[in-house]
Amino acid sequence: MADCSRTVDDIKRSIRSCDYANSKETTKFYDRWAQTYEQDMMMINYRPAHLAVDFLNANFCGRREEVQVLDVGCGTGMVAKLMFELGFRHFVGVDGSKGMLDQAVKTSLYQDLRLALLGTQRLPAETGMFDVVILVSVLCPGYAPVSVVRELCHATKPGGFICIAKGLYPGAREERYKKDLDRELQLMEDEGLWSLVGNNPTDRYMENSYLTTEADRKDEQEERYISGNVYLYKKSIDLNR
Ligand SMILES: C[S@@+](CC[C@H](N)C(=O)[O-])C[C@H]1O[C@@H](n2cnc3c(N)ncnc32)[C@H](O)[C@@H]1O
Repeated sequence: MADCSRTVDDIKRSIRSCDYANSKETTKFYDRWAQTYEQDMMMINYRPAHLAVDFLNANFCGRREEVQVLDVGCGTGMVAKLMFELGFRHFVGVDGSKGMLDQAVKTSLYQDLRLALLGTQRLPAETGMFDVVILVSVLCPGYAPVSVVRELCHATKPGGFICIAKGLYPGAREERYKKDLDRELQLMEDEGLWSLVGNNPTDRYMENSYLTTEADRKDEQEERYISGNVYLYKKSIDLNR
């Protein structure tokens, strides 16, 4: 049962307690968090799932009820819930945390949920199978490696969409990761694998967990939120790739 007495500061302290050393440790952290994840995220103004789904939806043309969606790093199913409200009906989810997948099952929205630690295991998805591949808040140090973006593209049908939401967390490790990610995204475009439909930057991705107290918030308003991006790509139609 959820602990209703948890405050915003408790939640941020808990997030800071994960050292994000590697994806195995990170997903164990999510196993422990799974039961209160959605409620906690609501309390710290977690916006990425909404930002990604809204941006995808604004650029999507097609029959939503017919398309196959792959939700990578699906967690408890927040993304699928939002997409369902907009008319999308067919979802497959992948995550490295069994605890998070146990919560996702309860939504009854996924036709399949697959356990896989990305970076260590290949993305468990058939090549060219999905009309939409979406990944929200999974690309960062200690989570999934940059190499996963190529796998997202492989799983997408020619002409399909790949939507990626990513927060910009403070620190040198994150800066290096972001540089590598930007290089890979551009390289894939140069190789003709996909083209950028749009990049939607935001300076309010989610609250900054490294600012904890009420006093901090008042003194440093500008850092209350971390910034982030939603990238939307369209896979090339050329079937020879
Ligand atoms: C911040 S949550 C985002 C969940 C969901 N997309 C959302 O927006 O609510 C990050 C998710 O990524 C998963 N994750 C982190 N690293 C992973 C990896 N290497 N392979 C698979 N899942 C991973 C975690 O288990 C967790 O469910």
